[in-house]
Amino acid sequence: MVPPETDEALHPASASGGDKVCSLRPRRLSEYIGQSQVVESFGIAIEAARRRSDAVDHVLLFGPPGLGKTTLANIIAAEMEVDIVTTSGPAIEKGGDLIGILTNLKKGDVLFIDEIHRLPKSVEEYLYSAMEEYHINIVFDSGMHARSYRSRLEEFTLVGATTRAGLLSSPLRERFGIQRGLDFYTIEELSKVVERSASLLGVPIEEDGVLEIAKRSRGTPRIANRILRRVRDYAEVRSEGVITRPVACDALRLEGIDEEGLSILDRKFLETIICNYKGGPVGLEAIAAVLHEEPDTLADMVEPYLLKAGFLIRTPKGRKAAERAYSSLGHPVPDETDGQLSLLSGHKGNSK
Ligand code: ADE
Repeated sequence: MVPPETDEALHPASASGGDKVCSLRPRRLSEYIGQSQVVESFGIAIEAARRRSDAVDHVLLFGPPGLGKTTLANIIAAEMEVDIVTTSGPAIEKGGDLIGILTNLKKGDVLFIDEIHRLPKSVEEYLYSAMEEYHINIVFDSGMHARSYRSRLEEFTLVGATTRAGLLSSPLRERFGIQRGLDFYTIEELSKVVERSASLLGVPIEEDGVLEIAKRSRGTPRIANRILRRVRDYAEVRSEGVITRPVACDALRLEGIDEEGLSILDRKFLETIICNYKGGPVGLEAIAAVLHEEPDTLADMVEPYLLKAGFLIRTPKGRKAAERAYSSLGHPVPDETDGQLSLLSGHKGNSK
């Protein structure tokens, strides 16, 4: 059994009489699990900036949701002992919105822009000089009355996060001195995340329980932590409060999360390709229409893990279900060699 932490500082839950305020996010680089190369290179960049009394170079973080982009932005600010201002691309509609934010930053502060690929182009252009030379040109009036005023900014660090690095314009992308992609976590890393979080929540958990949650978290710490909270509820209401493997399995069945960690939406996505489009290839828009979802939601939230875990194949003609999708969902695997449907090894049965 993994013993719960006893340190009060690690227990905002017990200190406040409830765990609603208990953030499971690591606050320091030393607490951060996984992404070891990113963590090491951030450690160096932070230490170097501190020694020179400079701001950290601008950072672009990309990768699927839930892997820790926001957490890393907050950690950079905490390690540099500066404030962080958090906003997002779609929230900044006009140049004036961004100017207001930039001119209020103090020396060294971190400006975190989530979904930076959704920043309007007219707003993005203000960032170029702000990032490169720490000034902005504010234009008053238009036509023959146009006047421009150059405003100096304090040195700051822009941390941009995106699930779609490919949608960023080159001028913006090139201005980030540090560009890092975050990868899905291994089961070992997720096990450590679950152990740490269980400890912070003060919930007793057996090693088998840790592993079961880690295995079903789609390589994503945010999912691991969400699942952990649901399993904890289940353990408290339906069991003795201890998270064992059977308790985790029962709770996750109720949540619609299968043995491989696929959610209801993941399975519907794969079922659509297999049942409605004969396994593909099929375009994302067509799948989205069947599921009543936005194509962008599927591209950001569903596809990356299915591709990484080998359930899905992307071809120039569209998405195709991989052999693992057929066997996992209990469909006969089509034998590509003669175009016939036949059961290949590894199939779990339940053919339709
Ligand atoms: N909680 C969520 N993500 C984490 C990480 N990468 N390390 C430690 N705890 C986490």
